[in-house]
Amino acid sequence: MDKVTVRVNATTANIGPGFDCVGMALSLYDRLTFEKTDGGIVIEGCDEKYRNENNLAYLSYKKTMEKIGCDDSSVKITIASEIPASRGLGSSAALIAAGAAAANAICGYPLTKEELLEIGTEIEGHPDNLAPAIYGGLTVSAATENGIYTARFKISEKFHFTALIPDFHLSTEKARQVLPKEVLRADAVYNLSRTALVLKAFEEGNTEMLAASMGDKLHQPYRRRLIKGFDTAERLAFHLGATAFFISGSGPTVMAVSESEDFTKAISEQMQFTDISSWRALALKPDNGGIIIE
Ligand code: HSE
Repeated sequence: MDKVTVRVNATTANIGPGFDCVGMALSLYDRLTFEKTDGGIVIEGCDEKYRNENNLAYLSYKKTMEKIGCDDSSVKITIASEIPASRGLGSSAALIAAGAAAANAICGYPLTKEELLEIGTEIEGHPDNLAPAIYGGLTVSAATENGIYTARFKISEKFHFTALIPDFHLSTEKARQVLPKEVLRADAVYNLSRTALVLKAFEEGNTEMLAASMGDKLHQPYRRRLIKGFDTAERLAFHLGATAFFISGSGPTVMAVSESEDFTKAISEQMQFTDISSWRALALKPDNGGIIIE
């Protein structure tokens, strides 16, 4: 096969207390076409500054080709993207997952999804967005001495997700710089216990437990001040009946979980009268399929 198109989903990571390990696939997609060429690389469909060898989709494609033992990574990549860049919706993970999956498909699928996750994590640094980008669903991942393990959890259909997307970028690098290097044992326990409850609450559709267990002491207290308008978004979301509210990945997008199909429309209307009128509200569903070669 010389040409493949990959569909890969957006992801939200952390989801309250699950810092650097929990993630969920969302119904928002990038489509990337990879076509072998006679030499060199061509990248289309993205900003000029990403049309080079540092493009994450290319880096991942090349690295995967090398792992497979194929030294020819001449390729034309055409990107059609719905996932906004640097907003906390897994745009980097999507590109990395797509590059690895495309190389694997072009070479006749010698690698498993677990191996693609390992390769991607070497580039991204943590697996929390990559795992749901590859497998779909709600995932928890741990990088162990024996490789990366991922567990998948069900998500009750009663929950609706609304991404509130600011009109500014926030790089993960900057959002990680504000985090303390060490944490108190009590704070670690606070997050550990809640993470387990959040997973069960999503699975069972347990509104009360979800609302009670979304607290986090590891990243959101430090990051919320990087997101101008965070307080307005949080206040509005709870005023309109949200069950939970959290920073998506490293932000700046924030996510409201509700039980109303009309929540996105309602918050979208209310936002117009506040200091977050330039933000976009987007209704999203969990995606259980994961990455697809079309
Ligand atoms: N877990 C990561 C973080 C997600 O919060 O920094 C962003 O890539």
